[in-house]
Amino acid sequence: MQEKAVVVREARHEDLFRVVEINRICLPENYPYYFFQHLLERYPGCFIVAEVDGEIVGYIMNRIEKGMSSFNPSPFRLVKKGHVVSIAVMPEHRRKGIGKMLLKWGLRAMKEYGAEEAILEVRVSNEPAINLYKKMGFIIVKTIRGYYHDGEDAYLMSKRIVEEAE
Ligand code: ACO
Ligand code: ZN
Repeated sequence: MQEKAVVVREARHEDLFRVVEINRICLPENYPYYFFQHLLERYPGCFIVAEVDGEIVGYIMNRIEKGMSSFNPSPFRLVKKGHVVSIAVMPEHRRKGIGKMLLKWGLRAMKEYGAEEAILEVRVSNEPAINLYKKMGFIIVKTIRGYYHDGEDAYLMSKRIVEEAE
């Protein structure tokens, strides 16, 4: 049987109910509808979905922030960072490269917003996601103790997305 084509594109307003549903199925970190809506309205180029057969099976939702660099921290030089707020792929569509495609698109979009670095938090036990991020060039910057509501620690992971200025 032939593999079905995956379509990756920017999210639209009418996609949000499905995105919220995927988030609830795939992750314990859930947010109210208006949070998704806000991020789509504020950073439309950074909110990406993947479709198979016209059905959304995954998403990545990002936000642009200003803060200290993970690589060269200085309170005197704030950098624009793309923050991966949430990424998920439906269980039956995993291990087919969709997560990687979503992250690639997301990183490219952040760069277009002028972000120099990408950051994210991930549960220290979330091996699939940590592997995906490492594969895409993220490194573990630090451990944030008790970051999640159930007490689990997070890794803060980061990746430089533009070359450092000379
Ligand atoms: N075990 C080990 N490594 C894995 C696994 C796994 N189960 N899944 C993915 N990887 C790694 C592998 O290195 C893989 O490359 P390979 O298949 O060539 O070996 C690489 O990641 C890319 O895999 P994809 O197929 O592109 O990833 P997928 O489409 O399966 O999506 C994702 C990965 C998004 C992490 C998925 O497992 C998922 O939705 N998990 C539940 C939600 C979640 O944990 N999201 C991240 C939370 S943190 C945050 O949102 C900032
Ligand atoms: Zn975060």
